[in-house]
Amino acid sequence: MATAISAVAQYGERNIIRIATDNTDLVLEVGPNKRVYQTYLGPRLSHESDLQNLSWSQHAGSDGSVSTRGWEAYSTSGNEDFFEPALGVTHADGNMTTYLYYVDSSQEPVPGGTYTRIILKDNRYPVNVTLNYVAYAKENVIKAWTEVVHQEKTLISLFQYASAMLYFSKAEYWLTEFSSDWAKEAHMSSQQLQFGKKVIDTKLGSRAAMHTHPFFEIGLDGSVKEHSGEVLMGTLGWTGNFRFTFEVDNVGNLRVIPGINPYASQYELKAGEVFTTPEFIFTLSYDGTSQGSRNLHDWARRYGLKDGEGSRLTLLNNWENTAFDFNQDILAELMKEAKHLGVDMFLLDDGWFGNKYPRKDDHAGLGDWEVTHDKLPGGVAALVKSAEDSGVKFGIWIEPEMVNPQSELYERHPDWVIEQPNRDTYYYRNQLVLDLSNPKVQDYVFGVVDNILTENPGVAYFKWDCNSPITNIYSPYAKDKQGQLYVDHVRGIYNVLKRIKDKYPDVPMMLCSGGGARCDYEALKYFTEFWCSDNTDPVERIYIQWGFSQFFPAKAMAAHVTSWNKNTSVKFRTDVAAMCKLGFDIGLQELSDDELAYCQQAIANWKRLQPAIMDGDQYRLVSPYETNHAAVEYVDKSKTMAVLFAYDLAPRFQEKLHAVKLQGLDPDKRYLVKEINLMPGTESKFAQNEKIYTGDYLMKIGLDVFTYLHNMSKIIELKAL
Ligand code: GLA
Repeated sequence: MATAISAVAQYGERNIIRIATDNTDLVLEVGPNKRVYQTYLGPRLSHESDLQNLSWSQHAGSDGSVSTRGWEAYSTSGNEDFFEPALGVTHADGNMTTYLYYVDSSQEPVPGGTYTRIILKDNRYPVNVTLNYVAYAKENVIKAWTEVVHQEKTLISLFQYASAMLYFSKAEYWLTEFSSDWAKEAHMSSQQLQFGKKVIDTKLGSRAAMHTHPFFEIGLDGSVKEHSGEVLMGTLGWTGNFRFTFEVDNVGNLRVIPGINPYASQYELKAGEVFTTPEFIFTLSYDGTSQGSRNLHDWARRYGLKDGEGSRLTLLNNWENTAFDFNQDILAELMKEAKHLGVDMFLLDDGWFGNKYPRKDDHAGLGDWEVTHDKLPGGVAALVKSAEDSGVKFGIWIEPEMVNPQSELYERHPDWVIEQPNRDTYYYRNQLVLDLSNPKVQDYVFGVVDNILTENPGVAYFKWDCNSPITNIYSPYAKDKQGQLYVDHVRGIYNVLKRIKDKYPDVPMMLCSGGGARCDYEALKYFTEFWCSDNTDPVERIYIQWGFSQFFPAKAMAAHVTSWNKNTSVKFRTDVAAMCKLGFDIGLQELSDDELAYCQQAIANWKRLQPAIMDGDQYRLVSPYETNHAAVEYVDKSKTMAVLFAYDLAPRFQEKLHAVKLQGLDPDKRYLVKEINLMPGTESKFAQNEKIYTGDYLMKIGLDVFTYLHNMSKIIELKAL
């Protein structure tokens, strides 16, 4: 067993804590006053002896003098800093100040990295704060979180509780944020941060990331760029209200404070109870976001995502095809279609449950997870059997955290629902959110999955949806502790998900929230993938997938071919979905024979190219935000297989077309370049088709893949000879 040693290394009088990946140093120091300061965050220093040249106290002197105000590693309210703190505590006696002093630390190896713990303590109040960091050496990713515990006589109240705090001293800071809405997810926009605060937060509770996603980028030497420049890319593992605060202070330094949004959430902590913040996961890239994304993709596959290194199931879903309008025979036919198409699984969506209040539209039935008998007389068992007979797996949709007022569940347990007792109720999608802070409700929600799997062990997959934000915030269970609800509700969800993962570790699950309103690395410990958006118009999807790919590997991002934007070809729609975890949600009768043959071939190609697309390195080469085209490349880890996805969106008349220079290939390998995913009966018009080039040529000169046509795609496979 690995033993922990003190994290502090002594250099003369200096007490330094180095948190390092292969590329990045985060250096902290225990000052002479025993407080802990950040002295450095940036490219890894080559010479350890330089660590003692870093100063903890020089950063703030606005008049040229050396100030005693340093960058406190976890700044607290009431201290001499005067800017936004990470922690705010109201102590039992009403005092609202906290000063933290170094007590102890440890450092030990953990899989893939080094775990550093730093224990701090207030010198006047029995409050302990532990700063935790795991630095993943190879992936250049650090995750940080904090624990607060106290031994005061009565409750203390936390009014700020960030996961971590980071500081930068640069000439400019450029923030890229990811705003969102239904069918408009991961929309990227940038702005320069000036003096004062910029806050990105959400107060939606359950469908928490509907309007903004829990990740951001900061360009540290000018605006964020894809292939050059220093950039911080950070994301919070929290499936509820989050808040990122970016504050530029009086001397032009930036502090970044990620955490749970403490909005309406003063958290009352009992003596001995540990408050653990979510993990803040970040990477610093010195070669733009492209490298930063690859860092995060590698980290996610190895350490973040459920079954991150495993394979994924292609599927046929029925939501866009049938909506609520199906029966057992129709589903049995669709399962045969799934097999014919060549996918691994049929996924039954919404509308299969409820008897007293059948789920025939979105007004009733949520909460009553029993098959609608007159619609599906053979139950789930018959569906699993039909799937088996057709030679595909069977997956099923659930939305277990929600309830329609028109349901037996609501009739039985109105007190299980988040709802105001003394005000009019307002509904989002005609439904309400169950109170997951209540352990009885947790048992019930666990039971939704457990009952299905106990009765039908053949069920191979779940799509877990969450369509409503928390409305009418009030928990009958929390009584006079309403300030805990937003936080404890999310923790309740994790309790359920943990139980499911413990009992059914091998069942893959898709996280969905009215599209992509849940997309964070804490949830993804329990989910193999997430649904990026209900918007499957391929043109829109190119942007949406471009956005999410900044933080998530392709295998975590589900994308389906549907009939959204029928003005585009089936080939174009498929070629866009094939950049992610490929699925279909379209009736085969909508496809001509050629289109069907095309899809079958595209699925087979996608499966063959998984080492590149799912498990390789991604290079975003041509941005749809900056050009009238887009190009994304995937290279497998051995650089023997690569695939280039190239799209013409809306080129201008005779605009200049540039060759696309590839990246990540072996310059000395020879690659056979071949257009794949061609419609049957069509010839490739790609001039460089079936020719051989060195990696060097492909990376320096590139391929002429773009055209003047609108909404066209070209998929180029590169095979090392
Ligand atoms: C949400 C999901 C869709 C579908 C419907 C079913 O909107 O995002 O994919 O499952 O719910 O009601």
